[in-house]
Amino acid sequence: MLNNTNTYLQSAKSTKNDEFYTPFEEIEKELINYQDQFSDKIVLCNCDNPHESDFCRFFIYNFNRFNLKKLICTSYSKSKLTKSNTQVDDKGYALQVDKIEEEKLSNTTYKEFIKSLKVKRLKGNGDFASEECVAFLTEADIVVTNPPFSLFRQFISLLFFHRKKFLVIGNMNAITYKEIFPYVQNNKAWLGYHNGDMAFKVPVDSEPRKTRFWIDETGQKWRSLGNAMWFTNLDVAYRHRFMELHEKYSPDKHPRFDYYDAINVSRVADIPMDYEGVMAVPLTILNKYNPDQFEIVGEANHGSDNPYDLFKPTINGKEIFKRILIKKRL
Ligand SMILES: C[S@@+](CC[C@H](N)C(=O)[O-])C[C@H]1O[C@@H](n2cnc3c(N)ncnc32)[C@H](O)[C@@H]1O
Repeated sequence: MLNNTNTYLQSAKSTKNDEFYTPFEEIEKELINYQDQFSDKIVLCNCDNPHESDFCRFFIYNFNRFNLKKLICTSYSKSKLTKSNTQVDDKGYALQVDKIEEEKLSNTTYKEFIKSLKVKRLKGNGDFASEECVAFLTEADIVVTNPPFSLFRQFISLLFFHRKKFLVIGNMNAITYKEIFPYVQNNKAWLGYHNGDMAFKVPVDSEPRKTRFWIDETGQKWRSLGNAMWFTNLDVAYRHRFMELHEKYSPDKHPRFDYYDAINVSRVADIPMDYEGVMAVPLTILNKYNPDQFEIVGEANHGSDNPYDLFKPTINGKEIFKRILIKKRL
């Protein structure tokens, strides 16, 4: 229940941050790494308007190449990438397809093709947690989408509750949330291949910004994030590769923290090969990390966020950016 102006403002802000739409190229670049894992699978894109989502478009165009069994895309009634008059009331949409005729697809526009697939209206608003959308989730093998950032915790919890495979976009800060971190620590989820800078389409009514905002030649507004991530429990190659370490431990290069017995490692490339204790490394370790080589012992953020947040990372009184705490497996 929203009870004051501040909360209304915060809520409006977080909902605005939910309206980042993923372009086809970003999806393709990541998804091609997992092609084999999609064979004969039912894919659900559950925050995706079939008329406008490039996740849906990607799987339609790659349905046969990926040998999918079925694709389901459901959308939330309030999606607002375009002023599209497809959003006529408060009901969501569902597209379900188990066969794509390549010839038909290549001889028509995408818009016409989607029309021919007879997208249905849902009974409700298409909330991913609603009963009818959870029924789709139960049917699915793999969930692939960019969910609303403000609901990331709930979204991931729902996927784990239903024991689903997933490949979803989030903000890397979410890694240290108490609802997410235990999955990372216990090797139940990890990062995909492309993380960091990512560009997203934003709605027509998005306010211009000084940085990380532009309008392309078609009039489409864009924003980029520097800390986006693909979050997944599909297998990724780097988890099976040993990281080569070239540095030796040096107290100057790897200073100790004020209130915790751990050393700071400013760059992943500086991880010492000969240190047996706890090392505090940047979050970017997570797309290089091999669970047979290192264990994750916790995080260092504020020292109080959750049971895994072991200390506030300060060195000689100066606070540094949050860290993941790792230890070599002996
Ligand atoms: C970050 S955008 C991404 C949209 C699309 N997946 C893409 O990547 O282009 C998240 C979308 O989820 C929608 N959404 C918000 N709350 C939702 C909910 N409870 N259930 C399903 N979708 C929701 C938003 O309206 C928005 O369209």
